[in-house]
Amino acid sequence: MNTPRIVTSIAELRAALDGWRKDGARIGLVPTMGALHDGHLSLVRGIQSHCQKTLASIFVNPTQFAPHEDFDRYPRDLSGDAAKLATVGLDLIFAPERAEMYPEGFATALTVGGPALAGLEDAFRPHFFGGVATVVSKLLIAALPDVAVFGEKDYQQLAVIRRMTVDLGLPIEVLGAPIVREPDGLAMSSRNAYLSADERAVAGRLNLVLKDAIARLKHGDPIAEVEAFASTDLREAGFEKVDYVAVRDAETLAHIRAVERPARILAAAKIGGTRLIDNMTV
Ligand code: PAJ
Repeated sequence: MNTPRIVTSIAELRAALDGWRKDGARIGLVPTMGALHDGHLSLVRGIQSHCQKTLASIFVNPTQFAPHEDFDRYPRDLSGDAAKLATVGLDLIFAPERAEMYPEGFATALTVGGPALAGLEDAFRPHFFGGVATVVSKLLIAALPDVAVFGEKDYQQLAVIRRMTVDLGLPIEVLGAPIVREPDGLAMSSRNAYLSADERAVAGRLNLVLKDAIARLKHGDPIAEVEAFASTDLREAGFEKVDYVAVRDAETLAHIRAVERPARILAAAKIGGTRLIDNMTV
């Protein structure tokens, strides 16, 4: 297993990809912020049946963190990440420094609407999707892959990126990938590393509360009642703050009155200083 080559500049990235393209290879991109776990690795495995060459980006993007958030303490481990990516046969890592993505005087950003204003993550992290859209559009333009993959773990993010790719006319296929979970059902996340043993036990309840809410919806209970019940369940399980539990249209993330089309239940809650998100098909 060879450790993938790491490039740090857009110029080196383009030179490497030009070589692949000359060989006629389809190129797949997996954007990440590093601190990789099996969820990230599953994205690499998943995209490999859609392309011949795979590239991952590792960049903790400052513009998607608010000043009070965890940018400074976000886990960083480039050599550990490279070793993990070697085990899944990744070909190239793009790991730019901040100044490569945001050069001196940087003054351009994307404004996103539609699914980015669904009243979910955006209501609690108003800066977030603008920062994500700006960095992902830069990564997509730098690499111009044939295909890129994003996890359903960040379900609203996936919807925002699908919308953005269509709106910018980028000739890139966007794939969504299922959530990879720990044995107790907790969705894998780089932020799970922040949890103490007690908090970790509480965190494992989030997915169970969502499953229970889905059972209630299937039983015909009204959406508003199910959402309220699940929020109470989360607080009783030990979450200090529930940002939302919401049942939405699976595609547009719009409010729905009843589950008549594909729907999704999404939640965000805080335990200790850590904010966890999860979602499931209803
Ligand atoms: P990050 O949190 O590192 O996640 C990178 C990708 O891995 C995202 O598409 C995310 O949805 C996916 N992912 C994370 N945990 C997962 C899990 N348990 N199962 C399946 N997929 C999972 O999301 C970001 O980085 C950033 O916002 C980024 C898109 C890279 C822009 O900076």
